[in-house]
Amino acid sequence: MLIREEKEKDYPEIYELVRAAFGSAEHADGNEQDLVTALRKGAAYIPALSLVAEAEGRIVGHVLFTKAEVQGHPVLALAPLSVLPEYQRRGVGTALIAAGHRIAGQLGYDYAIVLGSNAYYSRHGYVPADEYGIRPPFEVPKENFMACKLREGAPRITGVVRYAKEFGLDKYAPERKKTVCSYALLAATACFCIQ
Ligand SMILES: CC(C)(COP(=O)(O)OP(=O)(O)OC[C@H]1O[C@@H](n2cnc3c(N)ncnc32)[C@H](O)[C@@H]1OP(=O)(O)O)[C@@H](O)C(=O)NCCC(=O)NCCS
Repeated sequence: MLIREEKEKDYPEIYELVRAAFGSAEHADGNEQDLVTALRKGAAYIPALSLVAEAEGRIVGHVLFTKAEVQGHPVLALAPLSVLPEYQRRGVGTALIAAGHRIAGQLGYDYAIVLGSNAYYSRHGYVPADEYGIRPPFEVPKENFMACKLREGAPRITGVVRYAKEFGLDKYAPERKKTVCSYALLAATACFCIQ
């Protein structure tokens, strides 16, 4: 399996992959592939942190980390993470997260934030974010809003996470609120399914 940065020619394949991955999740609402497209066009996009997993000549997994901030301190938001249904439980998600963390560290990021299954992400260095004083901008069970310290010696940062506006959580983008709040809800609920 090869983990590499996405290329423009991969976009259609990634779109279908994300749709298929979340299509198999019990609580998916079908917006995740559009969220990837929107994030890619925005200021929070970091090309080096939109990664694909390639196996047997096709793209079988994708992860996106986008810029977010906590009280002016840059952090990363991991969302979404998608693996083709027929390639799940073979370590693809694990490899994508590990590669993303390595690159994020090289780029100087101190923390990555994720909303998801505590059982899954705790295997990858995530702990409930409130242990660091990092809080979500929406209501969600504490154990599902997690943060991973990407390097020893990262400064303690406290406050509410401000996500990329494409997530629709910004009060100045109320028209997107429905989509993205449903993503947030989805991420929480979908990930409960894999506990
Ligand atoms: C969640 C997801 C990204 C995990 O990727 P993956 O490549 O399957 O995960 P890995 O192989 O790295 O890790 C496997 C472990 O994760 C858990 N897990 C992963 N997918 C699972 C699934 N579909 N059902 C149950 N457990 C699952 C299991 O504990 C598994 O360990 P085990 O096989 O020893 O029991 C993938 O299942 C997926 O794309 N799901 C649909 C979209 C989604 O929910 N994304 C996450 C949003 S926060």
